[in-house]
Amino acid sequence: MQNEHEQLAPGALLMRAFAAPQSALLLQELQQVTARSPLRRMTTRGGYRMSVAMSNCGACGWVTDARGYRYDCVDPLTAACWPAMPASFAKLGTCAAGAAGFPDFVPDACLISRYEPGARLSLHQDRDERDLDSPIVSISLGLPAVFLFGGHRRAEPPRRVPLAHGDVVVWGGPSRLRFHGVMPLADAEHPLLGRCRVNLSLRKAR
Ligand code: SIN
Ligand code: FE2
Repeated sequence: MQNEHEQLAPGALLMRAFAAPQSALLLQELQQVTARSPLRRMTTRGGYRMSVAMSNCGACGWVTDARGYRYDCVDPLTAACWPAMPASFAKLGTCAAGAAGFPDFVPDACLISRYEPGARLSLHQDRDERDLDSPIVSISLGLPAVFLFGGHRRAEPPRRVPLAHGDVVVWGGPSRLRFHGVMPLADAEHPLLGRCRVNLSLRKAR
């Protein structure tokens, strides 16, 4: 189904509905993860409370607080390890990365982001990972959103990419450090997830 794939930039591929066949399993496993490490709105170093609620699974997880951004193997909310990454997440990540031209990708961290209506993510780079040779695999579930895919400078106007349930975006290589974000989520009802969008962002962080 190569013709369903859209290149956004060199090293960046949008694969429409790539995760759709597994979405029920992903959501079931996600529920078990967030039962142990609940979604929570984190605070940036500057004291801004994010509108997106986040959690993680895998060997380490992305966190932000008054100390700044980092990966930590302990969930600060539970003081326990993050839940293990479900095999279905890792398998899909490896498969999507392979289809996008990044063979042998084995994620060790998954940032889980839940957007409710109005929630947004401002333009940023994913640069807290130790391994910048591995791509980011980003899975969209639930309500549609407008993904902003920018350049290597924040000021560069981003491309607006509508993402729907099951869509997967992979960016790596020359696109690994591109700025990206998400426009405020429009209110609607999704048959599986209700009034929200969930993003699973698989990385090799360590
Ligand atoms: C992220 O940049 O971590 C999330 C992107 C998305 O929600 O699509
Ligand atoms: Fe990101």
